[in-house]
Amino acid sequence: MAFQINPLLAAFFLFLSLAKIFPLNVVTASDPDPVEDICIPNGRSSLSQSFVFSQAIVSTFPGLNTMGFSVARIYLGPGGVVRSHAHPRASELVDVEKGVIEVGFVDSSNKLFAHNLKEAVVPRGMLHYIMNVGATQGVDLGFLNSQNPAFQIPSFALFGPKLPYEVLEASFILNRTTIDALHEIYKEFV
Ligand SMILES: *[C@@H]1O[C@H](CO)[C@@H](O)[C@H](O)[C@H]1NC(C)=O
Repeated sequence: MAFQINPLLAAFFLFLSLAKIFPLNVVTASDPDPVEDICIPNGRSSLSQSFVFSQAIVSTFPGLNTMGFSVARIYLGPGGVVRSHAHPRASELVDVEKGVIEVGFVDSSNKLFAHNLKEAVVPRGMLHYIMNVGATQGVDLGFLNSQNPAFQIPSFALFGPKLPYEVLEASFILNRTTIDALHEIYKEFV
């Protein structure tokens, strides 16, 4: 009995085998979402473990449009702090150019990673701070893998706008008197 090969099926299998040899490069619009806070390659730790800044993000430097990164330079006097904040859309590499600067972040199991090495990595979305722990002027560069990383300060975000008392009481285990006092402090930062 003659064996009939369906030409469509044959083309399909040829396509599959070619696709295996020459994988199609599918272009995606962004990096895949991280599935863990930290990915340590080769079993080694990748965590090297008054405030002024200038930044190049897409709104201040339109040439960054579609480029997928942005940069900030931060000048910190002794004791200066960049208050705890998060970049919902970017991981950050902090490169210390001058001074002794501590970079700390809290991962999603509430573990603090804080170091004052020359370089630090802050995974995307993690709350972090930068603090000059030396006696001299400090300068660092932050490289972020988004043209628009966003800068969210949790204290401003939660006490600036008026969230329901019930939500704030449950979130912070504080009474209304204390919440009212905090609203007074943060109302100018809305
Ligand atoms: C609210 O909480 C603060 C701080 O714990 C406490 O000092 C104060 O007495 C409390 N006020 C009321 C009305 O419970």
